[in-house]
Amino acid sequence: MSGGRKIAVLGAGNVGGTLAQRLAEMDLGDELVLIDIVDGLPQGKALDIQESAPILGFSTRVSGSTSLDALAGADVVVETAGLARKPGMSRSDLLTKNAEILRGHAEAVRSQAPNATVIVVTNPVDVMTFWFRQVSGLPPARVFGESGTLDTARFRWFVAEELHVAPRDVIGFVLGTHGDTMVPVLSHTSVSGVPLTRLLPAEKLDAIVARTKAGGGEIVNLLKMGSAYYAPSAAQAELVRAVVHDEHRVLGVTAHLQGEYGLSGLCLGVPVRLGRAGVEKVVEVALTDSERKAFEASAAAVQADLATLPK
Ligand code: 2OP
Repeated sequence: MSGGRKIAVLGAGNVGGTLAQRLAEMDLGDELVLIDIVDGLPQGKALDIQESAPILGFSTRVSGSTSLDALAGADVVVETAGLARKPGMSRSDLLTKNAEILRGHAEAVRSQAPNATVIVVTNPVDVMTFWFRQVSGLPPARVFGESGTLDTARFRWFVAEELHVAPRDVIGFVLGTHGDTMVPVLSHTSVSGVPLTRLLPAEKLDAIVARTKAGGGEIVNLLKMGSAYYAPSAAQAELVRAVVHDEHRVLGVTAHLQGEYGLSGLCLGVPVRLGRAGVEKVVEVALTDSERKAFEASAAAVQADLATLPK
């Protein structure tokens, strides 16, 4: 390492490639490496991104590699590799195949970048985050998953569209799994502090919650040949920035629960305080009875998937 900050993105598909572009344009690292097994893909995308530097003005050095040795000394690793969902596939269908891909990557991070903070994106993300942590042996605070920030962005957009307000003024979060049992938390959603439940009738809120839960699938069905990557990569970049700039942001991620919300031994979407050390704290908020029930059902769905992980 040059003494500067190194960010590694595993997987140079649509998500990894778009994320690399965003990170370069945000000038977040001194060094950004894109890694993929398909020879030419990470090198080609990296060079293409690098050649935009004179126009866009960033200084980040971007490179591509097919070798996991390129992880060496990384401070932040974003795991985007793995199969993406096709129409009709659930995130859980991906579990076994993606666990095998991530096993090699987690072992490589353990040996090449043991001080890294790792953001897991690969689906099913709640299970893959737990798996990556287990195989890598990294401290739980330094391995978390991207889920709530993306689901919340979708939720916030649908609310903003309905109310004709600026999207950034909609504040809220989504708890639980990044899947069908996620829990958009209406009791903590507001438009610049005005509770959402006072602004929209119940049937509109129900429709927004349902659309948020199906948000990833809606894009899969439209694209027909892959899943979302613009909003996901924006969410990932926000998490990388929170770590690199030690921002102490309060954001939704898939975090290891160690007694918080009465749960442990799994990763699940919760609000956390995020900084250079990774997850500094899981933020616990009061939930209504129905939100708590939905959150517990979400935890049960993830526990069932965890039981099917390879040994
Ligand atoms: C999404 O929600 C694919 O999980 C990803 O778009």
